Amino acid sequence: MKRDLISMLDVKDDIEEIIDLGIKLKQKSKNGEAIELLKGKTLGMIFEKSSTRTRVSFEVGMTKLGGHAIFLSTNDIQLGRGETTEDTALVLSRYVDIIMYRAKSNKAMKELARGATVPVISGLDDKEHPCQVIADLMTIKEHKGKLKGLNFVYLGDGDNNMAHSYLLGCSMVGMNIRIVSPKKYWPEKYYVEEAKKLGVTVEVTDGVENSTDNADVIATDTWVSMGDEAEKEKRIKEFQGYTIDEKLMDRGKKDAIFMHCLPAYYGYEVTKEVAHGKQSVIFDEAENRLWAQIAIIVTLCK
Ligand code: CP
Ligand code: NVA
Repeated sequence: MKRDLISMLDVKDDIEEIIDLGIKLKQKSKNGEAIELLKGKTLGMIFEKSSTRTRVSFEVGMTKLGGHAIFLSTNDIQLGRGETTEDTALVLSRYVDIIMYRAKSNKAMKELARGATVPVISGLDDKEHPCQVIADLMTIKEHKGKLKGLNFVYLGDGDNNMAHSYLLGCSMVGMNIRIVSPKKYWPEKYYVEEAKKLGVTVEVTDGVENSTDNADVIATDTWVSMGDEAEKEKRIKEFQGYTIDEKLMDRGKKDAIFMHCLPAYYGYEVTKEVAHGKQSVIFDEAENRLWAQIAIIVTLCK
C-alpha cells in the first residue's frame, strides 16, 4: 500500500522518527557523506500556485538523494486545460516514483492522492502545509533540544494552512499551542478538536496583550495567503494590532525563538526588526525544508 502526506495526521505515529532522520541526514550530508538513498528515482512536482522554497528544496533534495525532480506548472500541463485530476494522477504514476502537489484546494489534493498509485506529498493546499510544519518542528528541536512541554504561540491568521498544521503538529509532539487571531479568523473547529484529543493545552483567543507570556516559540504567517488576494485591504484592516514586534517578543521567555514560514510581509504580520533579529530562526526553517523533506521522501518511498 502506498503512503501519502496530505495532513499532519498522516505522520502521527512516526513524526519524531522523521524529524530525527532529517537531523541525521543533514549532519551526514554536511560532513560530506553521500545520502543517495533514492538513486534513479523521480519526483513529479505539480504547482498550481507560486513557490520559491518548496520548489527549490524538493528539487535539490531529490538531487542529494541521487534522484531527479520534474517541475510541472499547471500553466504548462494539460491539467490546466481541463484534463481531470484523476487522469493526471494515473498517468504520472506510470512515469514517476513519487508526486509532490501544491494545490489550490484540499479537495483537489485528495482527488489526486486517490487517483495516484504512487505516494503523494502535499506542498501546501488551502487547509494544511505539513512539510513546512515538519521542517519547523525539526528547527525547534535543533534550537531547544526537545519538543515536549514547550509553549508555542501563533499570532495572525488562525484560519489558514499554517495555523491548522501547527495545531496538529505541535499537539502530536506534546507542545502546548495558543492561536491568537481576530474571532473571524479562528481556526476550523476540526483542527482544534483533533489537537485537543492529543492531551496538550490548546487555546484560541483574540487577546493579544498577554498572549506571548511564557512562550518558547512565537510564530506567524502572512495575513493574505495565496487565494485571499481579493480580500487584501479588508484583511489588513481586520488584523491591525496582531503585528509581532519587539514588545511582544520581550514578553516571551528570554530564549524564545521567532518563526515564520516565509514569504514575510514586513510591517504587517511582523516587523523587520523581529524577523531579522537575534531571536529569529526563519532562515533555519527555510533551510530545514530541504532536510525535513529528504526524510519525508525517504520514509514514504520505503
Ligand atoms: N514556505 C513556503 O512554502 O514557501 P514557498 O511558497 O516559497 O514554497
Ligand atoms: N499561508 C501561506 C503560506 C505560504 C507558504 C499561503 O498559503 O499563502
